[in-house]
Amino acid sequence: MFSKEIYQKRRNSLRQKVGSGLVLLLGNNESSANYPDNTYRFRQDSTFLYFFGHSHPGLAGVMDADTGTDMLFGTDVDMDDIIWMGPQPTIRDKAKQVGVEKSGTLADLKSVVVDAIRQGRRIHFLPQYRHDNQAWLKELAGIGQCEQQNHVSKTLVDAVVSLRSKKESCEIEELDLACDIGYEMHTTAMRMCKEGVREQLIAGTIEGIASAYGSMVSFPTILSQHGEILHNHSHEGVLQRGRMMLTDAGAERMSSYCSDHTRTVPIGGKFDSRQRDIYAAVLDCHDHALTLARPGVTYKEVHLSVCKVLVQHLKALGLMKGDVDAAVAVGAHALFLPHGLGHMMGLDVHDMENLGQVNVGFDCEVRPSSQFGLASLRMGRRLEPGFVITDEPGCYFIPALIDKWKAERMHTDFVNYDVVEKYKDFGGIRLEDDILITEVGSRFLGKKRIPITIDEVEAFMNN
Ligand code: GLY
Ligand code: MN
Ligand code: MN
Repeated sequence: MFSKEIYQKRRNSLRQKVGSGLVLLLGNNESSANYPDNTYRFRQDSTFLYFFGHSHPGLAGVMDADTGTDMLFGTDVDMDDIIWMGPQPTIRDKAKQVGVEKSGTLADLKSVVVDAIRQGRRIHFLPQYRHDNQAWLKELAGIGQCEQQNHVSKTLVDAVVSLRSKKESCEIEELDLACDIGYEMHTTAMRMCKEGVREQLIAGTIEGIASAYGSMVSFPTILSQHGEILHNHSHEGVLQRGRMMLTDAGAERMSSYCSDHTRTVPIGGKFDSRQRDIYAAVLDCHDHALTLARPGVTYKEVHLSVCKVLVQHLKALGLMKGDVDAAVAVGAHALFLPHGLGHMMGLDVHDMENLGQVNVGFDCEVRPSSQFGLASLRMGRRLEPGFVITDEPGCYFIPALIDKWKAERMHTDFVNYDVVEKYKDFGGIRLEDDILITEVGSRFLGKKRIPITIDEVEAFMNN
């Protein structure tokens, strides 16, 4: 937890931005896995954490934008709880720790919300992504679960996004440290990447590092020889010489700040010539993004420029043909790169995605696209100092997509399907780092960079 002044400052800024009414932030509750007391690891809601700091289940916060009063609500533990869970601070003490003067029970929360509604005051709330909190919101505000989306406060969403997008120095310190855990996870995966090793053994080992040095992984680990399956959570394979292992994994610190890195390495420690060519293309895309990412540039421009670099490489390899700009304009490159260049990162690995990607990665100026590939860009808007984003280009050979496009004669002016056919057994490569936009450009997060050039990777894996 940060100092109480940090949370007070954030709440003051939020109340000012919202202007009037009551801001209601529901924290998360325990979630049962297979019987009531066997719960998944508790994860606090990130916006609640940002403004009220506490990572405990069963809390809610209210900020009154008219009076400037903040309130924390929850249930104090009883003797039974103390016997099973040990002593816990009271809700009143929890409130004081984050600079909140008023506190109460969950029944008090209900009275506060009901009174405000009776007085015709606006209750600002965010989109709810958990069913129990949808039910709780219905109980408090009387809005049915299906109706809640229509009553979400866009004013509140925009205010939260504007604050959480620009990371403060205390947050950047946490993100740097989360990336240091990422370094240990990825270099361990690289050391273990040998023929005959089970993917699950490596995935389990690096997830152990995430929880040993932080609190847990920041998302389910992707570790597979089938890098062409973008979010492949199966770790059933046994590593085979000649293939590559793609590892997309990250950690959360105890503070819940995240990391998210991807490396793709040759099993056995040496890239073959086809792998070197595609790897060099993806690395060039990755580095190209870093040369462009700075305040004032839109991440959509960076994404499209990276796509052009990829097409230039694929043309040189005979996989694509024709005019590079025209190919990217019609989305022909999306056969090989069907996702976006990156996303915001912070307390969530896809930061604030629960608030609606259109509200986080886009604005009045830069709107989302419906074109295949570009539609998956999660972050398009103009970069500002303090933004933390990922740079994660890739190149994939997805057999089912290749077959479909070929059968439909998609973009035949730009794709050499005869050559592409020969890569259907290739898999996929993605390279991902987390970067901070500074006043003048960008920098990597984390003390050390995970080996990434072909020479660095081969040297690391063979030592
Ligand atoms: N971990 C999924 C992603 O990189 O966005
Ligand atoms: Mn990732
Ligand atoms: Mn990512």
